[in-house]
Amino acid sequence: MLKRTHTCGELNKSHKGKTVVLNGWVNKRRDHGGVIFIDLRDRYGITQVVFNPEINKFVYEQAKSLRSEFVIGVKGQVALRPEDAINPQMATGEIEIYVSELEIFNPAKTTPFEIEDNLEVNEELRLTYRYLDLRRPKLQNKLITRSKAYRIIRNHLSENDFVEIETPVLMKSTPEGARDFLVPSRNYPGRFYALPQSPQTYKQLLMVAGFDRYFQIVKCFRDEDLRKDRQPEFTQIDMEMSFVNEDDVIDTASQLTAKVFSEIMDINIPLPFPRMKYKDAYEQYGTDKPDLRFEMKITQLNSIFENTEFNVFKSVLEAQGNIAALVVPQGALLKRNRIDRLVERSKELGAKGLAYFKYQNKEFAAGIAKFISDEEKKQLTEQLALKEDDLILIVADTYQITFPVLGQLRLELAEELELIDREAYRFVWIVDFPLLEFSEEENRYVARHHPFTSPKPEQIDLLDSEPENVTARAYDLVLNGSEIAGGSIRIHNRELQKKLFKALKISDEEAESKFGFLMKALEYGAPPHGGIAFGLDRLLMILTGSESIRDVIAFPKTTSALSLMDNAPSEVSEEQLNELRIRVF
Ligand code: AMO
Ligand code: AMP
Repeated sequence: MLKRTHTCGELNKSHKGKTVVLNGWVNKRRDHGGVIFIDLRDRYGITQVVFNPEINKFVYEQAKSLRSEFVIGVKGQVALRPEDAINPQMATGEIEIYVSELEIFNPAKTTPFEIEDNLEVNEELRLTYRYLDLRRPKLQNKLITRSKAYRIIRNHLSENDFVEIETPVLMKSTPEGARDFLVPSRNYPGRFYALPQSPQTYKQLLMVAGFDRYFQIVKCFRDEDLRKDRQPEFTQIDMEMSFVNEDDVIDTASQLTAKVFSEIMDINIPLPFPRMKYKDAYEQYGTDKPDLRFEMKITQLNSIFENTEFNVFKSVLEAQGNIAALVVPQGALLKRNRIDRLVERSKELGAKGLAYFKYQNKEFAAGIAKFISDEEKKQLTEQLALKEDDLILIVADTYQITFPVLGQLRLELAEELELIDREAYRFVWIVDFPLLEFSEEENRYVARHHPFTSPKPEQIDLLDSEPENVTARAYDLVLNGSEIAGGSIRIHNRELQKKLFKALKISDEEAESKFGFLMKALEYGAPPHGGIAFGLDRLLMILTGSESIRDVIAFPKTTSALSLMDNAPSEVSEEQLNELRIRVF
């Protein structure tokens, strides 16, 4: 076998005259005036190799059979390209190889799509032939960045006394809010392991064991409805620390983030990151993951409209609802049918309607302008800091509808009007989350984060009387509108943990059977502790400027949780099912 002496990204004019061997894939073959040119590709780059009948007739004849994606080895001499053939875009653009020996390692069928970066191929086809898709330099570079990120994270955390510890993949089900993937146990029919939604309980137990600082780059599994930034299996940078408060975890996670950005992007991001209370994020951006790359904050208008004669607003205020507005700069110039579509969109999002008016020539015009009194106009102009050609969108509805609908319109409009600074990285810590939220579906309170998150100590008594007003010692890190990490200070006291289960309407028996092992551990000297987990895939998506989470995962699933390449999930044999004593119906 012709074994390579160099890679395809390496040779330049300093190698002139050297005899070298390259291995790689035929990226492209061009025939020019009786000479065959091949762009030979490996993961390091592309080198032009030349088959010239005047130099070597035999290999020239052999080269005629070469097609795209054949895997070959070539031996030859490095030569300088003629002046007019120099390609300054390519690292190897000043040289070419005059081939004297060719070995075809393997031919290739015509690939279902070209191996080229800027190719519009439907994603299903790409996922079916993922190994071909992964030949594209763009995708390769994303996975190489991913590998670099692992190294930086491991080094940084190890240098800071974190111990890397693996936790089980076959475990007892621990709730993290999503559905578990279950694995039947053959030895104990009717009993199941669960794949971890996160190693939450284990990392807490490691703190009880005294490890003090733990981390793991770990696969997590969640059987939930997928979205563009979610996968059924994904990777977390999972961390836990003892004897810490919120600030310690926030600082540690911020520094790790800064380290990753400086090493991978060569960007120094200033610390500390700003913090925002959950309530402010919700009322100003309509979400707990605000995108701060652009302004357009939501403004509450309840007090301005307290004496309104406009019935829609009046009835909402009477029902203790909320009126809030979004100001769209230059929005008054949008066409009527575009504004109508915004109204439709707000209804799709769950609002009953969308009121609007325009601010032009210092006048209120169109939409509901005629229902607004002079006094209200004066206050609106001031509070919304109205400028020429603003479009003002107003939703009046419940607290649960008004803000998220405006928040979603804010995002969609910013995208459309190109208000987003694509170069910016805007981090924000969201803090002071409510500990619990009421689930209509289950008719009880559920933990917003997970049931091991500690309430603020001064609010513990409220757990019985007004659970909805208890604040959690939790924090989320948001980057450009994406939640990239989340964590909390945990409960380390058994009595408090019991109290919380009670607030969640989890009976003593259920608590014992599900979490008995953790409750028991809390009785044997559990230190105060807390931690956080980053969604590594989401972070990498942003670091590599990817549109889809699938781009940073070697073998991802589709949004319907399928692996198109190997057809997982698939049926299994009757025999396998019988062995597990499982019947499918
Ligand atoms: P949480 O559930 O917030 O916290 O998860 C932490 C981070 O993981 C990422 N993430 C996902 N990424 C891709 N696909 C998914 N389906 C998915 N689900 C979550 C998010 C999220 O911020 N045990 C706690 C952490 C802790 O308290 O320490 C936990 O798992 O970026
Ligand atoms: P109506 O009286 O239902 O014709 O509504 C008058 C205007 O108020 C229309 O522009 C509606 O789109 C708008 N509207 C209706 N319901 C709401 C609501 N809940 N919030 C904001 N605007 C609304």
